[in-house]
Amino acid sequence: MASTVAFTPNHDESARQAFVGSLKEFINFKLESTLQQSFDEVINPAVEARTGRPLADRDEAGAVLDRHPLYQLWESLTFHSQNLMWKAVQDTTDRTIDDQVEAFRARAASPNRRGSMRLADRMVHKAPITTTEIHRQPGGYWRETRPDDIETALNYSGTVDLYRNAKGMGAGGKLGSDSIGRMLTAAVRRRAPDLQPKAILDMGCGTGEQTLAYKREFPDAEVTGIDCARPFIRFAHGFAESQDVAVHFAEMDAGETDFPDASFDLIVSIIMFHETSRAQVRQILAESHRLLRPGGLLINLDVPYHAHRIPLLKQVTNHWQVRHNGEPFWSGFTALDMREELVAAGFVRDAAFADHEQVGPATYFFFGGRK
Ligand SMILES: C[S@@+](CC[C@H](N)C(=O)[O-])C[C@H]1O[C@@H](n2cnc3c(N)ncnc32)[C@H](O)[C@@H]1O
Repeated sequence: MASTVAFTPNHDESARQAFVGSLKEFINFKLESTLQQSFDEVINPAVEARTGRPLADRDEAGAVLDRHPLYQLWESLTFHSQNLMWKAVQDTTDRTIDDQVEAFRARAASPNRRGSMRLADRMVHKAPITTTEIHRQPGGYWRETRPDDIETALNYSGTVDLYRNAKGMGAGGKLGSDSIGRMLTAAVRRRAPDLQPKAILDMGCGTGEQTLAYKREFPDAEVTGIDCARPFIRFAHGFAESQDVAVHFAEMDAGETDFPDASFDLIVSIIMFHETSRAQVRQILAESHRLLRPGGLLINLDVPYHAHRIPLLKQVTNHWQVRHNGEPFWSGFTALDMREELVAAGFVRDAAFADHEQVGPATYFFFGGRK
């Protein structure tokens, strides 16, 4: 039996997964920049010559691009590379799943556990995210087909760094690394250098790799990760115990937790909000405000694709993700004025922030507030 809970590809599986990562990188950078050049130098000027004005917005540009062979190639490769990605990680999961479930059980039953795991009495089922195959992950995040299932978590964990690195947002992360979490703690220190958190909450912690960063960076703090995907919470617990890091995980909806008021002095999330509906964004922000102690900090990292700061072509390719790649809330999220949402949730305007920051090679969207 494996002693650690982790996504562990063998040599051939790693090679195939690396190929998919390289293909995605090619599509996201080389092919998209060729498309951008064609859009700027040929496609848009041709429209202007015909109609007397350039393309005005995402919908107009999308309608023209839909008929263009280079854009069709981009669409087709993006769609199929996503299928290839899920197939490539599924091979590893199919080979290791029985062993991994046993490893999880052993970790969860161990008297030497450093942290804990709390599952809800009834599986948290929060539509629309529970009814959506986010990123077109087969079965979504929630599917359970065996007792103590962690299959969807293994698949997700296998794609996290592949996906981020292929978008140039990986912070140099390797499989299972906590590099994005460490990047977030660096942002915490920049924005609240005086904060010495004693209790930290990670909302939408997913498979938990990034949650470990908060314990490693703030060893005196009690760290809790919550997520409403039960297989993810199991995996996160098993993974944290395998790494010998003391973190508590609970299956919970971030908009409706059971923690008392003022339970945490640091609340964080990484790429959770763009996967929730507008109503849930509001509910989660209000809940975060309730859970923060006076002086505490809420800080969230999310996708930076706000229409006012990206080229028209990028708006079209991003919106394609909404229509065809299991990112139904992405455009809606970036259309929100997050600073106003924070104020509406109870944060003082001057203490609320929603801005883009260049960190290493990538730009990230940070939003939150100090209570
Ligand atoms: C893209 S994943 C990110 C996971 C993790 N933060 C990371 O960086 O790897 C988004 C996570 O948010 C979780 N999530 C979405 N809506 C939620 C909600 N209302 N309450 C708790 N978790 C939620 C999903 O189940 C998923 O695990």
